[in-house]
Amino acid sequence: MASMCTRVCSRALSTSAARGSKVAVLGAAGGIGQPMSLLLKQAPLVSQLNLYDIVNAPGVGADLSHINTNAKVMAFQGAEQLDEALQGMDIVLIPAGVPRKPGMTRDDLFNTNASIVKNLAEACARNCPNAILGIIANPVNSTVPITAEVFKKHGVYNPNKLFGVTTLDVVRANTFVSELKGFDAETTNVPVVGGHAGKTIVPLISQSNPKAEFDQETLDKLTHRIQFGGDEVVKAKDGAGSATLSMALAGAKWAISILKALKGEKGIVECSYVESTITDAAFFSTPIQFNKDGMEKNLGMPKGLTKFEEDLINAALPELQASIKKGVEFANK
Ligand code: 2OP
Repeated sequence: MASMCTRVCSRALSTSAARGSKVAVLGAAGGIGQPMSLLLKQAPLVSQLNLYDIVNAPGVGADLSHINTNAKVMAFQGAEQLDEALQGMDIVLIPAGVPRKPGMTRDDLFNTNASIVKNLAEACARNCPNAILGIIANPVNSTVPITAEVFKKHGVYNPNKLFGVTTLDVVRANTFVSELKGFDAETTNVPVVGGHAGKTIVPLISQSNPKAEFDQETLDKLTHRIQFGGDEVVKAKDGAGSATLSMALAGAKWAISILKALKGEKGIVECSYVESTITDAAFFSTPIQFNKDGMEKNLGMPKGLTKFEEDLINAALPELQASIKKGVEFANK
C-alpha cells in the first residue's frame, strides 16, 4: 500500500511540475479518434486535450474528463466550435474522415476525405498556424499535400511543421519482423520510408535493429504483409472499417515523440511523411529528427540499402507522385 502511494504521488508531482503541451484531436469521436484521445489523456506531457468532432464530441469529452490524469479535456462539436477548439494549440492531430471498406484502396477515400481535411486545414491555418500538424486521415499521400497547399494560400506554410503520420507502418514492420525472428517486439526498430498506401510503403528490413536476415521468399512475403497490413485489418473487420486501435497507438506514439521534442528532449526520431527532396517525389517519408520547432533535420535515406529495397523505392515513386499531384490539384481548384 505504502509503495503504491509513493509511486502514485511522485508521478503526480513530476506531472504537475511539467508544463505540458496543448493538443487538439480533430475527429476525436471516431474509430481512431476515441482510443487515440484516451492514450493522449494518459500522456503526462499533455496539459490540455481539445476534442473536436461533428457528432458525439461532448460524450467522449465527458467520459475522458473523469480520468484522473492532469490533461484538461474540453469538447467542441460542429463547425461553429472548430475555431475555438484550435486556438492556442501546440499540436493538432487529424484522424477525421471515413475509413475503408473491403476492396477499397486508400485513394478511394479521396472524394470524401479530401474536402474534410481541406476544411480542417483551413481552420488550422486561421487559428493555430504555428502548431505542429499530424495528418492521419487517408489518403495520407494526398491529404498532406492538400494541407500544405491550404497553408501556402494563407501565407503560413512551414514545411517543418506538417507531417503525415506513417508510424503504423513502422509499428507493423516491428511486429512482423520481431514475430518471425523471436525478437523483443517493443525494442525492434525497422524504418519504413515512402508513403502510406500499398506499394508506396517501403519497409527497409536491411536496416532492422536488431539485424534481421531472411531468404528472398520470406522477404517478399514480409514486405507485402507490411505494405498491405491495412488491408488485412479492413478484410477482418468485414465492412466495419479499417485499423483503429493500432492506428490510435501509432498516432499517440508519434504525438508523444513530438511532445518530448517540444519539451526539449534531444535525438527524438520518427519516420514521417514530409515535404522532401530526398527522391523525385515532393513528399516522402524518411526518419525525421524533431526539436521544439518540428522537423530539426530530415535524416534522409538510411545508408546501405539493398538492391531489393532500391527497386521498391523506384516502384513506389510513380503512385506517390500521382497522389501528390492529385492532392495539389484538388487544393487549388
Ligand atoms: C492503416 O490501416 C488506417 O491507414 C491506416 O494503415
